[in-house]
Amino acid sequence: MSARILSGKLIADAIKAEVAADVADLREVHGFAPSLTVVRVGEDPASSVYVGSKVRTAEELGIVSEHIHLDADVTDEELIATVESLNERSDVDGILVQLPLPKHIDEREVLERIDPEKDVDGFHPINAGRLTQGYPALAPCTPAGVIEILNRSDIPIAGRHAVVVGRSNIVGKPMAMLFLKENATVTICHSRTKDLAAITRQADILVAAIGRPAFITGEHIGEGSTVIDVGINNFTDSSRANSMFPVDDVDKRLATIEKRGFTLVGDVNPKDAMEKAANFTPVPGGVGLLTVAMLMKNTVEAAKIRRGL
Ligand code: GUN
Repeated sequence: MSARILSGKLIADAIKAEVAADVADLREVHGFAPSLTVVRVGEDPASSVYVGSKVRTAEELGIVSEHIHLDADVTDEELIATVESLNERSDVDGILVQLPLPKHIDEREVLERIDPEKDVDGFHPINAGRLTQGYPALAPCTPAGVIEILNRSDIPIAGRHAVVVGRSNIVGKPMAMLFLKENATVTICHSRTKDLAAITRQADILVAAIGRPAFITGEHIGEGSTVIDVGINNFTDSSRANSMFPVDDVDKRLATIEKRGFTLVGDVNPKDAMEKAANFTPVPGGVGLLTVAMLMKNTVEAAKIRRGL
């Protein structure tokens, strides 16, 4: 058996088309365009790529976007002052501070200073708390995107066993809360979990958000399950390509490593997932594309709520 590939691109494109229609309606009927300001600090290369993609996508959909780039040696006070000036600006609907921040910055303090109504990342404790209590909230984009993938692929969640590997505030914890809201039975596993494979094999839906390349292998995956791979890692070891990638993908992956020095892999061994799962989100081309689409959706949502629509 070979898993059905859940294309993040098709689903992200569908969501972006809906958001673009919503934005056009806000412009025509209500006379304003939603706006998103992204704050980036320092020169983290991955952050630069992600922020570029967020700003570009916003513009494509008619959302007004702004990119504020601060030096790596910015102080906590300067960064917080920037956030607070954006809180004050009535033309700004969404504020996103790209993570990770440089080590000298108190990340929690910065995120807590973002106005919860403009917190399109859904990282503010007010939004996390509302999500946990089952109230309307701006939900973190990556786990919200996972729910969209499942719903739009007709994969049932209610009553199913969802196992989340990873307990970060960005993915693991909000993922578990969103599954609970959808009436799944939820298990959260993490680095201290004993006999991880025995638990993950019981999953109807397995979400891997660990941050370790191809950590989830065949022994962790139940036959016929749905495997959602949230990881994004660089993979450089050509000698392991045959045990990592399905046979029809190996040559393309080797060519990419040859050309760029690496190929992107998630937290799941794709060859094993294709053999054992019924549904699988690839990396690249899976969940990552949904994160940006859901950010756009959150921005429009924040704009509507703040303007009482
Ligand atoms: N860094 C990695 N993922 C994210 C995200 O979803 N939001 C922000 N702000 N930073 C990130």
